[in-house]
Amino acid sequence: MEILFQTSRATAIETGLVAAIGFVREQDALASTRELHASGRELFEALNTATRGWIEDVFLRGEFTGKACETALLHRPAGMAAKALLLVGGGRRANWNTAELRKAAGVVLRTAKSKGFRDVCLLTEGEEVNAAMVSAIAEGALLGDFEPDAHKTDPKKNEKVVDRFYIQVPPRHTLDNALVRGTVLGEAQNLARTLINEPANLLTPQKLAQAASDMAARNGLECEILDRARMQQLGMGALLGVAQGSLEPPAMAVIKYSPAVSPLSSSAHLALIGKGVTFDTGGISIKPSEGMEKMKYDMAGAAAVIGAMQAIARLKPSIAVTGYAPMVENMASDRAQRPGDIVTSMNGKTVEVLNTDAEGRLILIDAITYAIRNGATHLVDAATLTGSIAVALASVHAGLFTNDAEFQKRFQTAAAAEGERFWPMPMDEEYKEMLKSAFADLPNISGGRYGGSITAAKFLEEFVEGKPWIHLDIAGTAWLDDAKPFLSKGPTGIAVRSMVRLAEDWL
Ligand code: BES
Ligand code: ZN
Ligand code: ZN
Repeated sequence: MEILFQTSRATAIETGLVAAIGFVREQDALASTRELHASGRELFEALNTATRGWIEDVFLRGEFTGKACETALLHRPAGMAAKALLLVGGGRRANWNTAELRKAAGVVLRTAKSKGFRDVCLLTEGEEVNAAMVSAIAEGALLGDFEPDAHKTDPKKNEKVVDRFYIQVPPRHTLDNALVRGTVLGEAQNLARTLINEPANLLTPQKLAQAASDMAARNGLECEILDRARMQQLGMGALLGVAQGSLEPPAMAVIKYSPAVSPLSSSAHLALIGKGVTFDTGGISIKPSEGMEKMKYDMAGAAAVIGAMQAIARLKPSIAVTGYAPMVENMASDRAQRPGDIVTSMNGKTVEVLNTDAEGRLILIDAITYAIRNGATHLVDAATLTGSIAVALASVHAGLFTNDAEFQKRFQTAAAAEGERFWPMPMDEEYKEMLKSAFADLPNISGGRYGGSITAAKFLEEFVEGKPWIHLDIAGTAWLDDAKPFLSKGPTGIAVRSMVRLAEDWL
């Protein structure tokens, strides 16, 4: 799909579908459609006239109320060049924010696609379109376009595609870079989603590592893949203990971005670390069979890092960023580690593996130590780490854990600007006290059932050596069980754009 600008007036645009989102607010009664916010008024009047009052009609009848993501479709509008007009509801807010625009663009794209329109134009007439809005629209269209059906063989599935997505802008504009940025972010998230969606038989740790180095080669980044022998040399006993149960060898991708001119003001070196368990059976502490197929998405953190590094390579922020993606398959076998095994991590601390299903933290700690040894000054990790985070926050917010309030503020600002939600979780010392082993420095799980996502974070914190660090538990948010009007079922690509924004806005 191409994303292009369109500068004609709404009624003259000749695409299959044109979509109006600007003025369509949720209204209590038709009376208030007459009190449209000023910028939407003009477009409303133009389209209502061109459709001989259809817009007023659908509001009056209550067929359409303007709720967020609600749609109404009119075929062959009399006074328009387009074949159809789509209204997309904008909810109650008076002005569009980028989060809503991203979703609305996704709704437009998915509606156009499902109805067989090959080209569509999103109208912005009367609005003051700025760069952030254009980025969000382009990105939303790309996100909406993703389908998790790569392995379906029905040739008909390719019949319904949108070839061209137009964004209406004023004739004289300076929005080209904004369109590029939105495209870069959308493609980065879709790359992550494509990887997450792959089943574990097709996407082994080796294949995921190959995908990371292919991405790096395509985008001019350096990429090193650590293999088992190298990990043994480095003493990554925690990661290797998880990997030993699988015939598939582990890998760690290290993807490097250095800014062309190193910033004088800051010597910061950001590490992005992602959990890459290509399949999590639980190991000997095996998971129940129900829903286990979903554990192919246990590498969503690694995929997010690979996607983010692609966007970073293209957007060229002025901070050094290295991506680390430890990759293993967590299997049960005669070679698998056992509950009670004691492993030595790269930083020398010993860990008693009380539960082989708490494997994510074991591979992350060796990646964290390796990142610090490589000069990381700030760490962000993203991991589908615990089921508990979904118990606490459902799929609305991901969990955020940190040891540094200032770094948290910086990250939250980036996340808010990108419309991603991370809820700060407590990190009191009492949670650390729940991690007690009689036989090693630390156990990999706490005694009780409660606060599981927090004790997991406290476990990781033991390895960050006091560096500013943020842990994102994305177990509840990386996979969408039911499609939304703007997003397919399946992988969401969460954390990609917040990590990219963090790097972009560093200075
Ligand atoms: N990969 C899982 C966490 C997970 C659960 C991700 C559900 C996505 C959806 C992780 O490795 C795990 O198994 N965690 C255990 C930890 C427990 C053994 C302390 C969990 O959450 O149950
Ligand atoms: Zn597990
Ligand atoms: Zn896991």
